[in-house]
Amino acid sequence: MSTAFDSQQVKTVLAERGAQVEAYLRHCLDGIPMQGRLKEAMYYSLLAGGKRLRPVLCLSTASLFGLTADAAMPFAAALEMIHTYSLIHDDLPAMDDDDLRRGRPSCHKAFDEATAILAGDALLTDAFGFMASATAGIPADRVLGALAAVSSAAGAAGMVGGQILDMDCTGRTDVPLPTLQTLHALKTGAMFRVACISGGLLAGASDADLDALRAYGEALGVTFQIVDDILDETADTATLGKPVGSDAEMGKTTYPSLIGLERSRELAQAFAEKAVDSLRGFTGADADFLRGLSLMLVTRNN
Ligand code: IPE
Ligand code: IPE
Ligand code: MG
Ligand code: MG
Ligand code: MG
Repeated sequence: MSTAFDSQQVKTVLAERGAQVEAYLRHCLDGIPMQGRLKEAMYYSLLAGGKRLRPVLCLSTASLFGLTADAAMPFAAALEMIHTYSLIHDDLPAMDDDDLRRGRPSCHKAFDEATAILAGDALLTDAFGFMASATAGIPADRVLGALAAVSSAAGAAGMVGGQILDMDCTGRTDVPLPTLQTLHALKTGAMFRVACISGGLLAGASDADLDALRAYGEALGVTFQIVDDILDETADTATLGKPVGSDAEMGKTTYPSLIGLERSRELAQAFAEKAVDSLRGFTGADADFLRGLSLMLVTRNN
């Protein structure tokens, strides 16, 4: 399958929008009136060069309905702050116990565990403040709707719920595929889905269009996490920026461990195509970018 945007064009747009997000994140942190180790740790993890996929999805889906990047940016930044908090906590010894993240020592290695826990707590909490103040040009009921969606995607019924399921499945050899699918849909899919629908909610998209964005985000999240599992087995640490082989070492159930690498690759491609198909009603550069992104995520190497 091919799309109007090839992977090089997708990477260019991702880099441009990612840079806008990066600048705004720096501005957000600069505005938090405190100094010291906590703030240093927040800067350290947030500005460590992640792919910025979730904020770019928010900006791009908002733009699909004519909402500007400036208007959607507080939500985009908040999604990245929540994601970064989840990574800081995910790397802790009590969870995946990983010492490398985004190509540098994990937050708890660069600082200490208490600082890492608190930097995560602060990023999560401050993210809600940024979303709540995203009122420039957007009706308050839309902001509230998007805020509630992010809250449920990040919380117990979403990402955090997925993380505990991941913990419960660690070290087990009898995890069935449907459980792994639920785990992925929660720990990764929920934040991808809300990254996509929040743009639409802020822009006042119709229910039918929100359904399409939801289907796209869910399929994209599954694609993304299958590839994350594959890369944990096949990538090299320098390119990936996090430790390769961590899943096997921790006894995680992953797609490759359940169905093998070949089938996992086929499944990732199938979900990416499902994501493309979900946007069949949309035209224009943003839709082309979103379709191209889903296929690019299958062949990514970090
Ligand atoms: C890593 O997410 C955590 C997963 C959900 C697999 P990313 O691969 O998007 O991490 P960054 O933001 O680019 O570092
Ligand atoms: C974590 O999944 C998803 C989160 C909610 C942070 P992983 O544990 O597979 O993510 P990586 O591989 O450490 O980035
Ligand atoms: Mg994990
Ligand atoms: Mg991990
Ligand atoms: Mg992983």
